[in-house]
Amino acid sequence: MRVAVVVASLLAAVSAKNIIITVGGNTTTNGSLVFQPQEVHAELGDAVIFNFTLGNHTATESSFAQPCTPINESITPMNGFDSNFRLAGNGSNPSILPVPILIQNVNTTFWFYDVNTCGEGGVGVINANDSSTETLAGFVRNAIRLNGTNATSSSAAPSSTGGSVSGSSTSSSSSSANPSTTSSAAQRGVVLGGLGVLPMVLAALVL
Ligand SMILES: *[C@@H]1O[C@H](CO)[C@@H](O)[C@H](O)[C@H]1NC(C)=O
Ligand SMILES: *[C@@H]1O[C@H](CO)[C@@H](O)[C@H](O)[C@H]1NC(C)=O
Ligand SMILES: *[C@@H]1O[C@H](CO)[C@@H](O)[C@H](O)[C@H]1NC(C)=O
Ligand SMILES: *[C@@H]1O[C@H](CO)[C@@H](O)[C@H](O)[C@H]1NC(C)=O
Ligand SMILES: *[C@@H]1O[C@H](CO)[C@@H](O)[C@H](O)[C@H]1NC(C)=O
Ligand SMILES: *[C@@H]1O[C@H](CO)[C@@H](O)[C@H](O)[C@H]1NC(C)=O
Ligand SMILES: *[C@@H]1O[C@H](CO)[C@@H](O)[C@H](O)[C@H]1NC(C)=O
Ligand SMILES: *[C@@H]1O[C@H](CO)[C@@H](O)[C@H](O)[C@H]1NC(C)=O
Ligand SMILES: *[C@@H]1O[C@H](CO)[C@@H](O)[C@H](O)[C@H]1NC(C)=O
Ligand SMILES: *[C@@H]1O[C@H](CO)[C@@H](O)[C@H](O)[C@H]1NC(C)=O
Repeated sequence: MRVAVVVASLLAAVSAKNIIITVGGNTTTNGSLVFQPQEVHAELGDAVIFNFTLGNHTATESSFAQPCTPINESITPMNGFDSNFRLAGNGSNPSILPVPILIQNVNTTFWFYDVNTCGEGGVGVINANDSSTETLAGFVRNAIRLNGTNATSSSAAPSSTGGSVSGSSTSSSSSSANPSTTSSAAQRGVVLGGLGVLPMVLAALVL
């Protein structure tokens, strides 16, 4: 019985796939084109790969209620993935951010946004719960309502917010966070900077 479960898990892991979300698109007219596709479903062993191909964007994890705020600032001590700004030019400087789907986060819904277009609907979701009332359409509405041009809070003005997130173009900063946030990041299985974690998942299953 136990062996069968392990074998089934192994087979699932062996068929692991990379799911690409292209980050770019024509952002001058429609923020909802920044992430393509905006919604993906990933299974255990898969990796969701943000592929930055055009312009200057981020892929930053947030929460359904506060689409345009890093998750660690709306739900403490939760930590999440954050690419920081990636300047891809026009395909001249592409880069990726992988988000592996592990046993710890296989049932987690990851809401995310682009700092530069969030208020225009530059948002998306990994593994939305189809039975939940929290949908991508609702998430887009929240983003535009809270951070769009008609948002009431003056602090939602784009010019006042760009500086609140590091402009560094290097990769993840979450791995250097303090111990409590690091451990919650680990619980969610968000490991940034490489796909080396996938063989580790396989190794764990073999053991
Ligand atoms: C972006 O959209 C505008 C308006 O529709 C269009 O004029 C422009 O050619 C588009 N740019 C690209 C790179 O597709
Ligand atoms: C933006 O693009 C999305 C996806 O293609 C489309 O459904 C939506 O109607 C567009 N919105 C505008 C204002 O063009
Ligand atoms: C990212 O997009 C670029 C440009 O389309 C493409 O050449 C590259 O293979 C893509 N990377 C991945 C991991 O899909
Ligand atoms: C959230 O994380 C960012 C780095 O990703 C950090 O700069 C910021 O200080 C953190 N905020 C809180 C409230 O922990
Ligand atoms: C990017 O490059 C392609 C191919 O050279 C070109 O068709 C497109 O208009 C460029 N887009 C922008 C936004 O410069
Ligand atoms: C994920 O959710 C499914 C369906 O509720 C459940 O069968 C499975 O055990 C859960 N997996 C983990 C690792 O929690
Ligand atoms: C999905 O949403 C339903 C309805 O809110 C809830 O009962 C269920 O536990 C959720 N599933 C997961 C994996 O969070
Ligand atoms: C902002 O409000 C104006 C006036 O009510 C409206 O015409 C416009 O469509 C709104 N813009 C957005 C993005 O909702
Ligand atoms: C969205 O608005 C909130 C509240 O004003 C602000 O804290 C946040 O930084 C804004 N996000 C972006 C990406 O501008
Ligand atoms: C990317 O966008 C951010 C926020 O608008 C800005 O502060 C930063 O300078 C931009 N990066 C580049 C290289 O233009």
